[in-house]
Amino acid sequence: MSGLIAPSILSADFTRLREEVDMINHSEADWFHVDVMDGVFVPNITMGFLVVKAIARMATKPLDVHLMTVHPEHYIQQWRDAGAQHITVHYEACTHLHRVIQQIKLTGAKAGVAINPHTPVSLLKDIISDLDIVIVMSVNPGFGGQAFIPHTFKKVSELSDLIHSQNASTLIEIDGGVTLENATMLIETGADSLVAGNTVFNSPNPTETIRLLKKAAKHNKPTL
Ligand code: DX5
Ligand code: ZN
Repeated sequence: MSGLIAPSILSADFTRLREEVDMINHSEADWFHVDVMDGVFVPNITMGFLVVKAIARMATKPLDVHLMTVHPEHYIQQWRDAGAQHITVHYEACTHLHRVIQQIKLTGAKAGVAINPHTPVSLLKDIISDLDIVIVMSVNPGFGGQAFIPHTFKKVSELSDLIHSQNASTLIEIDGGVTLENATMLIETGADSLVAGNTVFNSPNPTETIRLLKKAAKHNKPTL
């Protein structure tokens, strides 16, 4: 089985957005990870509908939109219209999480929930079978280029057990501090998809780095 790679456009050079999107289009990457930050849920502001729409027009791969915003329920249809194929909201930002997930599914997008480093996996017990994706935050959200939090491995393993115990088909995505060094171990622990911003865009040859990440994320399950 091979892991999915989702370069985070947040670390791209926005003065050369078309070239950066084309680089991902022609690479071995699977998804575009798009970080939306509102300056309230997280201490940073990134992009809104206009920029995401522009990326969607140029991208030939699914847009994996990660909403780090309060009240994401107010804008679900607009994100879908902007071109999001996956819409992920934060557990910590949703009082009525089940309702928001149904709202996302009604638009035809895949529905995801992201959990911050302090949020236990066990809190997803009664919602996991409704989720297409869980993003396990391996940094505190807000910025690219932060160091990976090692406790993430334990959470991935717990989440993998929870998904299997309910026969769910939820994908596990890791977001923050993914490198060529930790990619293989993350996939072996149960991750399906790896976000990578700094590792890809601050490398001398981003296309080659994506190829190496994809290779590192190849995981041959031992045969019984
Ligand atoms: C962090 C964002 C991440 C970020 C990852 O709040 O959600 O998607 O772009 O960047 P790196 O890979 O540089 O940690
Ligand atoms: Zn993200």
